[in-house]
Amino acid sequence: MRINAAMNLSSTLWRILIVLLCFSIKLYSLQIKRRGLLTVKPAKLFLIGSNLTVYCHPEKCKNGFKLSLEVNGETVTSSEEVNCPAIFNLINFRTPFSSVICMLKGPDSSKIVDGGDLYGGLPPDKPENITCERTRSSDNIICSWEKGQKTHVITTYNISLNRENGTRVELYQIQDDEQRVSANPLTISRAVIEENIKYKFIITAYNHFGESQSDPFIFCSKDIVIPETPRIVNIEFGNNSQAAVLQWETSDSSEHLRSDVRLRTDKAPSWVKSNYKAEGADLNEGQIRVSGLRPLTDYEFQMRTCMPHTNTPRFNCSKWSASVRGRSPGKGPSQQLHVWRTVRQPGVKCDCFVEEDYSGVVQQYKIFLGNEQKQEVLSGPASSSVPVPAEIKAISISAITLYGTSPPAVVPLKHSGGFAPVLRELAPAANSSAVLVSWTWTDDKHWFHI
Ligand SMILES: *[C@@H]1O[C@H](CO)[C@@H](O)[C@H](O)[C@H]1NC(C)=O
Ligand SMILES: *[C@@H]1O[C@H](CO)[C@@H](O)[C@H](O)[C@H]1NC(C)=O
Ligand SMILES: *[C@@H]1O[C@H](CO)[C@@H](O)[C@H](O)[C@H]1NC(C)=O
Ligand SMILES: *[C@@H]1O[C@H](CO)[C@@H](O)[C@H](O)[C@H]1NC(C)=O
Ligand SMILES: *[C@@H]1O[C@H](CO)[C@@H](O)[C@H](O)[C@H]1NC(C)=O
Ligand SMILES: *[C@@H]1O[C@H](CO)[C@@H](O)[C@H](O)[C@H]1NC(C)=O
Ligand SMILES: *[C@@H]1O[C@H](CO)[C@@H](O)[C@H](O)[C@H]1NC(C)=O
Repeated sequence: MRINAAMNLSSTLWRILIVLLCFSIKLYSLQIKRRGLLTVKPAKLFLIGSNLTVYCHPEKCKNGFKLSLEVNGETVTSSEEVNCPAIFNLINFRTPFSSVICMLKGPDSSKIVDGGDLYGGLPPDKPENITCERTRSSDNIICSWEKGQKTHVITTYNISLNRENGTRVELYQIQDDEQRVSANPLTISRAVIEENIKYKFIITAYNHFGESQSDPFIFCSKDIVIPETPRIVNIEFGNNSQAAVLQWETSDSSEHLRSDVRLRTDKAPSWVKSNYKAEGADLNEGQIRVSGLRPLTDYEFQMRTCMPHTNTPRFNCSKWSASVRGRSPGKGPSQQLHVWRTVRQPGVKCDCFVEEDYSGVVQQYKIFLGNEQKQEVLSGPASSSVPVPAEIKAISISAITLYGTSPPAVVPLKHSGGFAPVLRELAPAANSSAVLVSWTWTDDKHWFHI
């Protein structure tokens, strides 16, 4: 599914690229030969959702020729019967970037009159959710906020840092990078700030379409301290591949630090919280055991430390650490093999069949004959047979994979009373493999079937 989505996305991108390429070529030829004028009301830079009127004035209106407008390659028909010069209405026009070309079409030729680009944009939303943070050791305070919906045009932020009585300390200006959802963070040097004084911070966002001011944000440098960013120094996957132990350290000397972990697989775009158990969590270094992992998967881990907020049940947390990546090992079989017996020709003999391969990675089956632990090793998953001495009361069988050995499945071989098949039930598992043990009886009276 994800591959399909990616393919759709890239094919859409290709289509857009091809359309844009065709347009560039058309616009290029336009520069060489312009046969009139295209104008847009109210303007080529317009408020998204407005009604645009496009006027196309060719130098000459010829009989039998008709004007048409192409917007990103699609033809729009003229709203008026009089078609030279022509007026085209683009109602509730919402495309942030488009190319328009006016064409003069005759019975057997078509010519470009003029063209141009349209840029749609929006006024900035009110900047919200302002936060300012610093660590104890850092020289800077980092302030960030949410800018609301995309404006599609260059938006500038004037940030005024004032004392509480209104005197301005600094004015910062940041130009918005349109590609980012949250605005670029602002870095304030701690040198301009006194530790114990309250400051007021106001953001004014503005662009071609308007401006918008945030509510004032008041902070005091000593109250915005977050824990130092920790480091993951080692990662070790457990034997069963479902857990990993992260070893971390931090230069933060605060007490009561708690750790917090997030992870994602190689292909997943977003982070998930994992089941984890911190060990030594109130020290400034420790171990975290992350569980619920899948075998043979590439993981990326990050962690942060958090400390309890004064007077509230909330926590304030450090920045996420740098990522540490690792691949979980394969998982050995944890379930017993599914074993039963069938009857074959006379002879004291035990045939073992592999009914199902163990996820393609079973290398061997090991057979233990009776209590004296005499072993036979069957290589490969195919059917094999093992001679079983008459005095053997039971055998047990395990599957051996690259990553571990299954617990032994015991097959009793006692010949007492009516012989019923012995079926060892499995707990529900993704994969159950089975070994078919068929054996025969020297006494002809004791034939039985499954
Ligand atoms: C755009 O035109 C439509 C239809 O003529 C009209 O209903 C709408 O109010 C207009 N919008 C604006 C912003 O003028
Ligand atoms: C600010 O945070 C609130 C709560 O998380 C959220 O609902 C709101 O959309 C945020 N504001 C902006 C402009 O993103
Ligand atoms: C932003 O700051 C610049 C430079 O200081 C100033 O010229 C401009 O008027 C300010 N804009 C707004 C909307 O406050
Ligand atoms: C505001 O406070 C600063 C320092 O405390 C002082 O220098 C400045 O004169 C004050 N401004 C006003 C308008 O009171
Ligand atoms: C985080 O909590 C500590 C201890 O309660 C407090 O000193 C600090 O100011 C808090 N930081 C923020 C950003 O709230
Ligand atoms: C791996 O297994 C061995 C032996 O069973 C055990 O001693 C060791 O503690 C295990 N290691 C982990 C990380 O679980
Ligand atoms: C289960 O076994 C089948 C083949 O028998 C294999 O294709 C599949 O990948 C296995 N699943 C797991 C989780 O090992």
